[in-house]
Amino acid sequence: MGNEVQTTQDGSHTLLSEKFGVTYHSKYGAIQESIHVFIEAGLRYRVDQIRDKSQASTLSILEVGLGTGLNVYLSLLESISPSTDYNINYTSLETSPISNKIIEQLNYHEQLKQADSKLFQAIHSCEWGNFQQLAPNFELKKVKQSLESFETTDKFDLIFFDAFAPESQPELWETPIFQKMYNCLNDGGVLTTYCAKGQVKRNMKSVGFEVEGIPGPPGKREMTRALRSFLV
Ligand SMILES: C[S@@+](CC[C@H](N)C(=O)[O-])C[C@H]1O[C@@H](n2cnc3c(N)ncnc32)[C@H](O)[C@@H]1O
Repeated sequence: MGNEVQTTQDGSHTLLSEKFGVTYHSKYGAIQESIHVFIEAGLRYRVDQIRDKSQASTLSILEVGLGTGLNVYLSLLESISPSTDYNINYTSLETSPISNKIIEQLNYHEQLKQADSKLFQAIHSCEWGNFQQLAPNFELKKVKQSLESFETTDKFDLIFFDAFAPESQPELWETPIFQKMYNCLNDGGVLTTYCAKGQVKRNMKSVGFEVEGIPGPPGKREMTRALRSFLV
């Protein structure tokens, strides 16, 4: 058995989790969803904010749930685009890495019209636990650890909160987790997630986040962006 590869409506693959019986991405389009929620509403939004404030040229990202590596891959491709003038340090947590057999089947490089799968493969083949340089301005640290047990003194500019939904993993959407997320963000830092549940937004607000419901990807009315305000 194990996780099963499925094709979503934009043609890109997702996985059906054997453990939770849910997919890793929206059935309407895995790539479409990841670009909307994490790249456009997260990465590009934060880069624009940093530009406005003429801040540091290195963006530090924490991802909850490496999974297929799609969010890493999209961020890596963004970093090698000729118009990109910043560096990315990307830390991704994962408790259950996917198998090589699954990695080989995923069609992301084809769907994203990349010449080959080398960069995508590099995400999965690189060592765990230390930063690895995958491109001139992109470093990845994969951490084989749960979010609950992850302790860090690092500060991040952006959090890609991509755990399974509250129905599958309620403990990851509670106040103590969002307090931890808030504490490890820089002032002005941003957390994005596909989830738009009222209770989740209230939990975020209760620890100090400014919470916005913004339009979601196709098939989903809303998603959430949470901000740690700049100190005034
Ligand atoms: C919704 S999937 C998304 C994965 C990934 N971002 C992607 O695009 O494929 C959630 C991921 O979180 C991982 N996960 C589950 N529980 C976790 C935990 N407690 N800490 C860190 N990661 C966890 C799962 O194994 C799975 O890979």
